[in-house]
Amino acid sequence: MDQPRDVAVIVGSLRKASINRMVANALAELAPAGLKLGIVEIGQLPLYNQDGDDDPPAEWTAFRERVRAADSVLFVTPEYNRSVPAALKNALDVGSRPYGKSAWSGKPGAVVSASPGGIGGFGANHHLRQALVFLDVPAMPQPEAYIGGANRLFDADGKLVNEETRKFLQGFMQSYAAWVSANTSKQA
Ligand code: FNR
Repeated sequence: MDQPRDVAVIVGSLRKASINRMVANALAELAPAGLKLGIVEIGQLPLYNQDGDDDPPAEWTAFRERVRAADSVLFVTPEYNRSVPAALKNALDVGSRPYGKSAWSGKPGAVVSASPGGIGGFGANHHLRQALVFLDVPAMPQPEAYIGGANRLFDADGKLVNEETRKFLQGFMQSYAAWVSANTSKQA
């Protein structure tokens, strides 16, 4: 059997009890055998500053190398003030440089947003999609994933306990596996 494809999962929240991290863990569990999901941490990344390009911090270099090595990228993010959290935007910016050597380029991607609110992080989801267009990440258009009321979907141990959401996320991961296969040839 072929090796499973390496999916770099970027979680937009840094907090320990993050609902989005729970969603990411559920996605890893529900993924078909052809995908292997691993969270790539972003909280340790120094704020991007172009002055650092000549002598980049070790954290930037390690992050860029990890993303570059992945076959695809999956973003799971909360919405902050109708956009993405600063930590996630920072990770996008860090990975995009040095100029002409973006780690994101050509990686098949997908976006999931989750919020206790009813619109499931729609604003963050679409702001992120806008950046992914420029970063040359082909982001799966359908199914969209706006997980609303997300604080009610997990138990105290972070286990997904809502059956309807489980089915939806399982279908989402099957579509994503097909999307990764169809778009992998676009990578450099
Ligand atoms: C939020 N939250 C929020 N929720 C939302 O649906 N739309 C929004 O625009 C915002 N804005 C916002 C700004 C800031 C600074 C914070 C801290 C929070 C609430 C947010 O969805 C909630 O805290 C989630 O639980 C965050 O996701 P994690 O950390 O649980 O993954």
